[in-house]
Amino acid sequence: MAYEVPARVRENAATPIHDLDRYREHWSRAERDPDAFWLAVTKERIAWRKEPTQGLEGSFHTIADGPLSWFGDGELNVTESCLDRHLETQPDKVAILWEGDEPSDVRKITYRELHAEVCKAANALKELGLEKGERAIIYMGMVPEAAVAMLACARIGAIHSVVFGGFSAEALRDRVRDCEAEVVITQDWGLRGSKTIPLKNVVDEACQGEAKVKKVLVVKRTGDEVGWTEGRDVWWHDAVDSASPEHAAEIVPAEHPLFVLYTSGSTGRPKGVVHTSGGYITYTSYTHATVFDLRPDDVYACVADVGWITGHSYIVYGPLANGATTLMFESIPTYPDAGRYWDMVARHGISIFYTAPTAIRVLAAQGEEPVKKHDRSTLRVLGTVGEPINPEAWEWYYDVVGEKGCNIVDTWWQTETGGIAISPIAPATPTKPGSATYPMPGIIPSLRTPEGQVLRGPSQGLLCIDHPWPGQARTVWGDHPRFVATYFNHVPGAYFTGDGCRRDEDGYYWVTGRVDDVLNVSGHRMGTAEFESAIVSVDACAEAAIVAYPHPVKGQGVYAYVVAREGKAIDKAELQAACRKEIGAHARIDRMQIVPGLPKTRSGKVMRRILRKIAEGRGDELGDTSTLADPGVVEAIREGAVTSDD
Ligand code: WTA
Repeated sequence: MAYEVPARVRENAATPIHDLDRYREHWSRAERDPDAFWLAVTKERIAWRKEPTQGLEGSFHTIADGPLSWFGDGELNVTESCLDRHLETQPDKVAILWEGDEPSDVRKITYRELHAEVCKAANALKELGLEKGERAIIYMGMVPEAAVAMLACARIGAIHSVVFGGFSAEALRDRVRDCEAEVVITQDWGLRGSKTIPLKNVVDEACQGEAKVKKVLVVKRTGDEVGWTEGRDVWWHDAVDSASPEHAAEIVPAEHPLFVLYTSGSTGRPKGVVHTSGGYITYTSYTHATVFDLRPDDVYACVADVGWITGHSYIVYGPLANGATTLMFESIPTYPDAGRYWDMVARHGISIFYTAPTAIRVLAAQGEEPVKKHDRSTLRVLGTVGEPINPEAWEWYYDVVGEKGCNIVDTWWQTETGGIAISPIAPATPTKPGSATYPMPGIIPSLRTPEGQVLRGPSQGLLCIDHPWPGQARTVWGDHPRFVATYFNHVPGAYFTGDGCRRDEDGYYWVTGRVDDVLNVSGHRMGTAEFESAIVSVDACAEAAIVAYPHPVKGQGVYAYVVAREGKAIDKAELQAACRKEIGAHARIDRMQIVPGLPKTRSGKVMRRILRKIAEGRGDELGDTSTLADPGVVEAIREGAVTSDD
């Protein structure tokens, strides 16, 4: 059943796509002539120093020869779109509305103030020796300075790489090394749900012996003690506060890299996904304004973390390019209680709220009372992102939070897509609980068989995208062949997303989740290979295989099959510690089974399909196991399957 768009959302729409006919018209126009469509969009939305005349150069068929380019002859600095031009029209509008860990800790930073802060930080970074094209790692919590640091890098043409503050020192070191960072920007301690997180100390551990890192810039958040390396470490307030608030932005070509963001894939170490300037800012600005139907007086709140792509595209770049008031939230949804989000909605008059299904499930489990006690009448659009949303959670969001008066936008996209790719457009698209509905203009999805054949009409298959769009990732940092092999070798001429998807009789898309070895736990993307390598680093473990199983709150849980070394005992706590050390605090094993061996084909490949079925409690549907080297192993695994969380 489809839900019609509620009246409050339909009336006074700001986007030209205010009904399905307009949507179809825009989508067809973008399909017929993508260059004309996107050139018009970018000229309307983005402050170019030199306006582009070129659209797309290159194609998915020729991607092995080198990265694609959009708007190749254009020149800009994205921060002029995010800051400078708003100084003329709305200098005193709040740009960043910061809500700290304690609900009483609120800061409002206007566009004028943000511009000055970014200019100061840009001057300070230059002073510290960071040059155009060099990399800075940002390892911070959700403080305004994290956004200022991102923008300051962009302002001088340096490339930032934000690493989520939950990653371990080892994971951080891998990233520092991979992108050869010159500067690391961090804070003394992070604060979340009244707990402190030792960000600076983790940076110290990660950077030990990393000679390439010349400077570490440190924001003082809590004032608690931290280690200090003279000559390398610099306080933010010493370097930034006294710097000049004027800075002429470094003008760069459209394809100058804006940032690198590491993300997990099926194999190997996380990849540094590269996004560039002109196409990314065009696409995030367009999708942010269109999907949410952004209006001038909206108070927009995305409660993600800037460590993930959602924070980059829909806390910082898209909203600021659109001159919106964008919230940054330092805390967690259950601190001090399960009403925190709705208390913020009431206090700040939030009209657009964007979160993840896992948070909705956590809050739904606490009942309606914490929601109902706060006034939510300002809400108009409710977004979700990060994983498939189950219909029960969707209905709860719609009925209880939105009181049936808001539209739900279930936005499907990825680190690699740069911005929202399949999603309702708030005033235009009737919704169905659990469906991301229709592709954005410019996105041409296809469902495919494993052999790459295109499926037509209602069908289920592998989700691909057939034509380039401006916001997509251009390459993997330092490894273009890996980019091509990961995304373009499955189906020649199309981008393979790694997701499975169904299309129904109305043409609605229902993304079912990853079909590769990527886990999605509470919306956190992690690779099975990363977990396995952490586990086998423990001496007692000979071998390990990780699969996901459905989890009622986290979406997916982590199921570990572990083979012990001869005569050794496995200690689950030791394995947890290894995952925490190699990946981070968000990497936890939910269920562990010690097995005599892993089911393998005769050529030695682990049969994950079998392990997945057993973990999902479907051990009696294994199908053909005759190609296994040792079918007896499967019997033993099936009998010992773990079926409850501890
Ligand atoms: C999943 C997050 C279903 C999907 C922006 C994708 C979703 C992966 C949705 C990307 C959604 C994200 N419905 N699945 N609305 N949104 N996903 O790179 O499996 O952290 O491939 O980007 O999350 O995760 P990433």
